[in-house]
Amino acid sequence: MSSKVALLNRITHYIVNRKGKQMRPMFVFLVAKMVSGGEVNERTYRGASVIELIHTATLVHDDVVDDSNRRRGFFSINALWKNKIAVLVGDYLLSKGLLLSIDHGDFDLLKIISVAVREMSEGELLQIEKARNLDITEEVYYEIIRQKTATLIAACCSLGACSVSPDSEEVQEMRRFGELIGMAFQIKDDLFDYGDEAIGKPTGIDIKEQKMTLPLIYALNTCSKEKKKWLINAVKNHNKDKKRVKEVISFVKEMGGLDYAIKVMHQFKDDALAILSTYPDSEYKSSLDLMVDYVIDRKK
Ligand code: IPE
Ligand code: IPE
Ligand code: MG
Ligand code: MG
Repeated sequence: MSSKVALLNRITHYIVNRKGKQMRPMFVFLVAKMVSGGEVNERTYRGASVIELIHTATLVHDDVVDDSNRRRGFFSINALWKNKIAVLVGDYLLSKGLLLSIDHGDFDLLKIISVAVREMSEGELLQIEKARNLDITEEVYYEIIRQKTATLIAACCSLGACSVSPDSEEVQEMRRFGELIGMAFQIKDDLFDYGDEAIGKPTGIDIKEQKMTLPLIYALNTCSKEKKKWLINAVKNHNKDKKRVKEVISFVKEMGGLDYAIKVMHQFKDDALAILSTYPDSEYKSSLDLMVDYVIDRKK
């Protein structure tokens, strides 16, 4: 990661010292091992590194987009160095990731990764588009989270399979498996926003950013007409008013929005596990099983 630019080195050190859960590389390795019966190779290692680099780049950018000042228990890059620098550092991490694949001729893996990068940008933009109009349906929400989050986890699982067994059926099957995990993963992330546990990043900021997530969408679709008007008005015109946002959160809870989102999250998890169950038993499959449980039981 080192560069001749001292400022950049300082920032990459800051980032490298604050690692996240590193779940994505774990999916890459475990899928590769399950598909191959335990063998991984240099392609698997490079693929896992590229994915974590790109994931980190998107978090750096996402905190600019969401105007968020905390990440992984510390200040975000934009909070410490401002947006200009965060944008450029995100680009640097992204290009370093892509070059790692290019320099080693891993073009099949690069293709999987590039599709995910494109879709993540589309997902974040679709989310902004919908935040402007507040006209989001449950279907559109699923499309947003599929693009912004699930495709990268889909890429992890598909890349893991492709690194050891290119052109096999498993590459597509594992893509679907990862996509389902990713859907559950983002619903969990959106549920955190309604809680007040310490998760290393801010909570209660989605409504402030007019980000409509599943609990709120459910409440909007099930409450009375008057309440719906009140909700929309609160999210549109009073989203920076802490008291109003608290009222919205309480109302969403009362309407059963969280319970509904939890139910849907479990459905995605079960669908993922159904795919996994078609594979022969192995220690890697059992570990993947545990990872899928962790996605929805995790505390951060
Ligand atoms: C956060 O992902 C971004 C989302 C897609 C919700 P993680 O929760 O995996 O972030 P880190 O890498 O562990 O910090
Ligand atoms: C994360 O979405 C999606 C990315 C593609 C980076 P969020 O904005 O909900 O993620 P957090 O909560 O900031 O980690
Ligand atoms: Mg964010
Ligand atoms: Mg979030």
